[in-house]
Amino acid sequence: MSPPPGGVSASESDHGGEPVPGIHLPAPSPLEADVSLADHTDVLDWPFARTEDGDPPPILAELRNAPPCVVRLPAGAAESRLAWLVTRYADVRQALGDPRLSADERLPGAPVRIQVPPGGNPSSFLRLDDPEHARLRRMIQTEFTARRVKRLREPVQRLVDELLDELEALPRPADLHAVFSRALPTLVIARLLGVPEQDSAFFIEKTRVTISQEDPAVSLAAFEEMSEYLAKLALLKLESPGDDLISRLAVNHHAKGAITLDELVGIARLVLVAGHETTTNQIALNILALLRDDDLRAQVAADDGALIPNFIEESMRYWSISQDAMVRLAVEDLELGGVAVSKGDAVVISVPAGNHDESVFACPQRIDPHRDTSGHLQWGFGPHYCQGAPLARLEMELSLRSLLRRFPNLRLAADPRTVFRRGTVFHGVTHLPVTW
Ligand code: HEM
Repeated sequence: MSPPPGGVSASESDHGGEPVPGIHLPAPSPLEADVSLADHTDVLDWPFARTEDGDPPPILAELRNAPPCVVRLPAGAAESRLAWLVTRYADVRQALGDPRLSADERLPGAPVRIQVPPGGNPSSFLRLDDPEHARLRRMIQTEFTARRVKRLREPVQRLVDELLDELEALPRPADLHAVFSRALPTLVIARLLGVPEQDSAFFIEKTRVTISQEDPAVSLAAFEEMSEYLAKLALLKLESPGDDLISRLAVNHHAKGAITLDELVGIARLVLVAGHETTTNQIALNILALLRDDDLRAQVAADDGALIPNFIEESMRYWSISQDAMVRLAVEDLELGGVAVSKGDAVVISVPAGNHDESVFACPQRIDPHRDTSGHLQWGFGPHYCQGAPLARLEMELSLRSLLRRFPNLRLAADPRTVFRRGTVFHGVTHLPVTW
């Protein structure tokens, strides 16, 4: 049996062959050997930590040299268990688009990342398969189309301007994340959904706790509180609807029997969490990338920000914030990246690993605003491709354009390595101190 290109053969590892410096690489599991998940003894604990600079875990580069390896998922409310970890770009795409890998979290043995209450209700259509997934996804398909989002340009720009006015009025240094990058997506999504602004602090906190990977029982409690809140809100909207997404779901779909209240709450919760949590952190990281690299910033600010849209996609690829959330369950036997995945196996799909695959994105550790970023995986791929991408792009573009124009002397007021949050399923920052 020959080793995979640039990789380490199972026999080398088994017999203590050349170790990779600083990294303990588990033995690959070649298809020929047909080694089942449970037969693996060389197992890595997952998730892996990022570097001090917030880069994706360096071990992913080593793992890409071999077929999918076996990792142990952390023990949570569900039992700790083994899973295949997919790291190469082509394998990540295959896995995300392959209907034999189910996203349905209700299936017995489905791997769990964000704790949800037992009882058979999916947390949202993100964790369902077609046709159920498609039925629920359709309920909001007209909400974030490019045409619809175009109409939001002016209101979002107004909000950006107001928040930057607030920032400008603050004593320096100021926390740009609290005032701007966290506030903007939160206010935008609250307004679109029809969630009262005064409740923003509540759902920011509940989202943070829900997606933290620390204590599953605490995460679950936060998830349930948020769900109760949204169910009450939906019933209020049913009686007195407004021009917002929850009202439309309540009146056009729930009242007509097309979706249950639980399903409505699941959609609203998904949009609320997906709509502010990811965008918030991506906006902050876009800014951080520029503030810690003067040359990059000069390139991106040149020509009135002509490179901004491409820089944003590249920054998304580079940071790959959706780091530990994508898990699937094999519902049929299949081959994936050279291993035999059996029905019932869990599969973890690493977007950061795929986005840093050097065979697709040369020098992946470099943020190159001129790079062809098409095909990066940070919006997902396949049936669960991000529905909010046009809205997120609008918010990211307007926020960066306005910030660069209005604060040409903006600087970081802290060591960049101190701003990252750790241990959450989405990478991000806790704060972003700046001065100008
Ligand atoms: C920079 C910001 C964003 C990033 C990086 C992002 C990323 C993603 C990714 C990777 C997925 C696929 C997850 C999977 O396959 O498991 C996804 C799905 C989704 N996103 Fe986003 N997202 C962002 C912003 C938004 C916004 C602003 C909204 C809503 C307004 C949104 C709504 C959704 C929804 C509804 C899905 C589920 C789609 C489905 O299951 O069919 N996202 N997003």
